[in-house]
Amino acid sequence: MNSVRIRLGMLLLAAIVPGTHAGSVFKGKDLYAAHCAACHGPNGRPVMPGAPHFERSQGLVLPDPVLFSRISDGKRAMPGYRGVLKHEDIMDVIAYLRTLR
Ligand code: HEC
Repeated sequence: MNSVRIRLGMLLLAAIVPGTHAGSVFKGKDLYAAHCAACHGPNGRPVMPGAPHFERSQGLVLPDPVLFSRISDGKRAMPGYRGVLKHEDIMDVIAYLRTLR
């Protein structure tokens, strides 16, 4: 019982301490719809040829920091979002991407 309480406390702490921002799936969903769905499809099934199929985990079997730099810098036909989306926004989009597969 005690350890459950301690873990709950840590979770709450992680939620309020800045810098431990865990991406918000809900904000990420809206950002994805606005910035990514045109090529990647509303549910991660690609619309643009050559874009990865997120439902099949294509392009997502990468750790968060790698996804972060791909989304910031872009990759070939994929535009970069540095200066377009804030650091926190990109983390939210990544949290949402992880729900698609
Ligand atoms: C103009 C079309 C377009 C838009 C808009 C777009 N992408 Fe992409 N994205 C692509 C294409 C094409 C690729 C494949 C790039 C390659 O490997 O050549 C890609 C690849 C990716 C990858 C895989 C990277 C890798 O290394 O395999 C991720 C993750 C990704 N996009 C996320 C996003 C997110 C998040 C957004 C919105 C913030 C977004 N994309 C917006 C076209 C787009």
